[in-house]
Amino acid sequence: MKILGIETSCDETAAAVVEDGIKILSNVVVSQIDIFAEYGGVIPEVAARSHLEAILPVIDKALADARCRWGDIDAIAVTHAPGLLGSLLIGTLTARALAILYDKPLYAVHHLKSHVYANWVIGGQAESVLSSAGLEFSSTSYAGHPGKTARKGSFLGAVRNIRVENPNQGFMLQKEQIPACPTFPLLALVVSGGHTQILHMQEHNQFEIIGTTIDDAIGECFDKVAKILGLPYPGGPSIAKAALDGDAGKYEFPHPKVDGLDFSFSGLKTAVLRAVQKEVGVPISYPSHKLKELLNPQQVADFAASFQKAAVDILVEKLEKALGQYPDTQSVVVAGGVSANQALREALPEAYFPSPSLSGDNGAMVAGACFFEIQSGVKPVDPYKINIYPRISIEK
Ligand code: KG4
Ligand code: ZN
Repeated sequence: MKILGIETSCDETAAAVVEDGIKILSNVVVSQIDIFAEYGGVIPEVAARSHLEAILPVIDKALADARCRWGDIDAIAVTHAPGLLGSLLIGTLTARALAILYDKPLYAVHHLKSHVYANWVIGGQAESVLSSAGLEFSSTSYAGHPGKTARKGSFLGAVRNIRVENPNQGFMLQKEQIPACPTFPLLALVVSGGHTQILHMQEHNQFEIIGTTIDDAIGECFDKVAKILGLPYPGGPSIAKAALDGDAGKYEFPHPKVDGLDFSFSGLKTAVLRAVQKEVGVPISYPSHKLKELLNPQQVADFAASFQKAAVDILVEKLEKALGQYPDTQSVVVAGGVSANQALREALPEAYFPSPSLSGDNGAMVAGACFFEIQSGVKPVDPYKINIYPRISIEK
């Protein structure tokens, strides 16, 4: 089954053709980063206009790269929630026009589901979905999925460590060879510009939110801290790059005390702001956008590295707590733009990560998620009635 996936929820115009939810035949992403780097952030109206210009050429290229004609496409999948209203509109209106024109079933997909399913798609630029940190890769292809390698070694070693520390938690997973695809039940750590959640998945297409941020999302926090440090938009990759030359132990930031499996990141952002003010010797009333002028490159690198370490540690701590509460967990998958972060990948060597090229927004993950939705009985939407939801939970 060949599905055309269309994604326009934020500032990437993307389309891809994926076969059977797994094999990427094409994956075209046009990013608007260049435009928004000038402004230091996304301007929704500009994003929508850029999508409008790019969407049809992007879809044409996705079909051409996949060597497909419209007759070869079995369904169209489009992101309809959550995201920027104008951006979502361009994708859904285009998808519905094409569905009507070419008489294709149309599926409306939730953006976070798509991010999670980026862990299943392979091929094209997405050769390997596994974290490279501390792992041994076997050259054996996985069950007819060329490019996907089976991973050898212990599984969820981090969890076993918790088990040792907390002997009362009856939780132990040991597998000599783990499958190339995540297995259920699983926990998904969703880390993006708009969301920070831990999801429990009993099965395909079953999502239960067991932890969520009570304020800022992690990606948003990276972006805001980057601004304080004078690093370019988007902040996540800029911080990761600057951190390479920094000392992660230079500054210590407190971890928020949030109940259960929920997160909070606004305090961390403020803690960085206060530490920078202290470092350069200005009062807390000093305008934050001027701080960058007082920082030297080494200080920027040290703040970037120390902040990144704190952010990653907070994620890992909560994930470990979640694993303690869900002892039947078979796999951990990480999803969303922040899953591109190398420090996070190294901190979770036993988890599944999308190929870095599929961590950010793309159409392949939309098509992938759609395939598994269809498998679990989800029906197409009426193209004349498709709706967008800028803010809606994955559980709805
Ligand atoms: O998933 P995504 O592309 O868009 C949303 O659905 O929000 O995530 C974008 C977020 C941005 O906040 C960006 O700064 C962050 O992902 N990001 C990173 C990295 N690459 C992108 N954060 C940390 N490290 C990275 N390497
Ligand atoms: Zn996203």
